[in-house]
Amino acid sequence: MTTTIAVIRGDGIGPEIMDATLQVLDALGAGLRYEFVEAGLSAYEKTGELLPQATLDAIAQHRVALKSPLTTPVGEGFSSINVALRRRFDLYANVRPAVSFPNTRSRFAQNVDLITVRENTEGAYAGEGQQVSEDGATATLIQKITRRGSERIVRYAFDLAVRTGRRKVTVVHKANILKSTSGLFLKVAREVAAQYPAIECNELIVDNCCMQLVMRPEQFDVIVTTNLFGDIISDLCAGLVGGLGLAPGANIGADAAIFEAVHGSAPDIAGKGIANPCALLLGAAQMLDHLQQAALAGRLRDAIRATLEAADSLTPDLGGSGTTQGFARAIAARLG
Ligand code: NAI
Ligand code: MG
Repeated sequence: MTTTIAVIRGDGIGPEIMDATLQVLDALGAGLRYEFVEAGLSAYEKTGELLPQATLDAIAQHRVALKSPLTTPVGEGFSSINVALRRRFDLYANVRPAVSFPNTRSRFAQNVDLITVRENTEGAYAGEGQQVSEDGATATLIQKITRRGSERIVRYAFDLAVRTGRRKVTVVHKANILKSTSGLFLKVAREVAAQYPAIECNELIVDNCCMQLVMRPEQFDVIVTTNLFGDIISDLCAGLVGGLGLAPGANIGADAAIFEAVHGSAPDIAGKGIANPCALLLGAAQMLDHLQQAALAGRLRDAIRATLEAADSLTPDLGGSGTTQGFARAIAARLG
C-alpha cells in the first residue's frame, strides 16, 4: 500500500534538507508518494499568499505532512504560518523527542532519552483577551485551560508511553501558584493517570522540573505539560542533547499531523549545501512511527546514530566539513 504525504520544501535551507531527507526515505524503501505544496516566503512570492488553499487542501486530504522550515516575512500583518496551521487543523499535541547522539557537542552525551508532550492550543498562547490599556501602563491576557484540552493531551502522553514501551509520565505544572488553570490541568492529569496503572506517573512543579532536567536528565521519560511551560521545556531539552540540528517535532491532531525540524530556515547558510539534515530526518522518523512503520523508523534512527558515531560526514554545525548531500548519502548507505 502506498501512502501519499504532503511535502512542504519551505524556505532558506528548507529545500536542501528536504531533498536530502526524501532521498534517505526513498533509500529506506518507505513506499511514500509525495505531493509537493508550498507555504511560507516561497509561496508568497509565487502566489501572494503565505499559506495557499491548495496547501491546506493537500494536508486535509493526506492527513500527514512533512514540512521544512518556513520564513515568515518581517513586518506588520504577517502572522506565523506555524500557528495558523496548528489552529486550522487543531494540532493539539506538540511532541518533541530529545535523545542523546554521539558527536553532537552535547553536555549530556550518553543518557538523555525523553519526549516532551506540549499542549499546543490553549493556555497563555491562545491569545485570548490580549489588551493593553489606553495609557499603555497595564497589559492583560486571559489564560484559559479546559478539561477537554487537558484530558486529550494527558491521554496522548500516556498512550504514547504505552505504545512506545516507555515507563513513566511526568506531569509538569504550577498548581501551587496558578491554582485555577494549572490546578485544573493537574486535577485532570491525575484522573487520566489513574486509568493507566502500568505507567508510573509523577508530578513536578515547572521550576523544579527545569533544575532537575539540567542536573539529572536521565530520570525523565515522557513529560506532559501546558503550552507555555512546554514551549520552554522542550527547547531546554533540545539544548541538553546538542541543540537545533538534532531536534525534531511533530504537531498532531485528530485529523492531521505535521512533522518538522524545530529549527528555522537558517538564512545565514541557505544555498551553501552545508545544513545539517538530521533534525528533519528525525522528524521523518517520527512520521514513520505515526504511520505505524516503527521498524522503518527504527532503521532510520539507527542509521543516523551510526553516521554520527562514525563522524565521517558531519556538517560544520557539528564540527565537520561535510555537506548536506554527503551526510544524507552516508546515512542512506548505513540503512540496515
Ligand atoms: P534558525 O533556526 O533558522 O537559525 C539559528 C542558527 O542555527 C543559525 O545560525 C543557523 O545557521 C543555525 N541552524 C539552524 N538550523 C540548522 C541546520 N539544520 N544546520 C546547521 N545550522 C543550522 O533561527 P532564526 O535565524 O531565528 O530564524 C530564521 C527564519 O526561520 C526566520 O524567518 C524564522 O521566522 C524562521 N523560523 C521558522 C521555523 C519553522 O518554520 N518551524 C522555526 C523557527 C524559525
Ligand atoms: Mg518555542
